[in-house]
Amino acid sequence: MKTVVVYKSISGFTKKYAEWIAQELRADLSEIKKSDIEILHKYDNIIYGGSLHAAGISGINIIKNNLKKLRDKNIIIFTTGASPPKENTISEVRDNNFSVEEQKQIKFYYFRGGFDFSKLNFINKILMTLFKWKIQLKRDKTSDEKGMLAAYSKPVDFTKKENIKELLEYVRLLK
Ligand SMILES: Cc1cc2nc3c(=O)[nH]c(=O)nc-3n(C[C@H](O)[C@H](O)[C@H](O)COP(=O)(O)O)c2cc1C
Repeated sequence: MKTVVVYKSISGFTKKYAEWIAQELRADLSEIKKSDIEILHKYDNIIYGGSLHAAGISGINIIKNNLKKLRDKNIIIFTTGASPPKENTISEVRDNNFSVEEQKQIKFYYFRGGFDFSKLNFINKILMTLFKWKIQLKRDKTSDEKGMLAAYSKPVDFTKKENIKELLEYVRLLK
């Protein structure tokens, strides 16, 4: 079976997972571009990774808008975020990004990425500064929120190769 890993990554966390997955599965690897949809037709398994931005998976519309055309493919989506991988957060992200029908056509994974403010572009720096102020104004901050605030001055990297194990097992069993 031919497999491709395509991804969209701003500060490199999603890219790292995409590279690990491609290496392990001996799959082709590419950063996603709109024009890639035609190329994706060459593959049986399409793995897409994009980072979480305000609970949305970046770049996911390229895949979502083409789900009908890709109905004979195995589609695996992963997203990375700064938040810990809690079950309710993961199902919220899945349900926010995919309808019930879409969820039947895809397999979804969440991997913890990291946060590096210095690597963000101007717009994302503004957005994340607003988010920081919002957390700072909260009286009772959760430990995750405190951790997030600390990460603005000291980048955090939670990526771990072992996180992709389940995805690899799933893809290896596909026929
Ligand atoms: C504008 C913006 C919004 C974000 N929103 C979320 C979010 O809703 N949930 C989350 O867990 N992480 C959020 N993050 C953190 C990123 O998803 C996280 O740093 C991710 O691992 C970055 O991956 P990348 O380097 O591949 O882009 C946000 C980051 C930015 C810049």
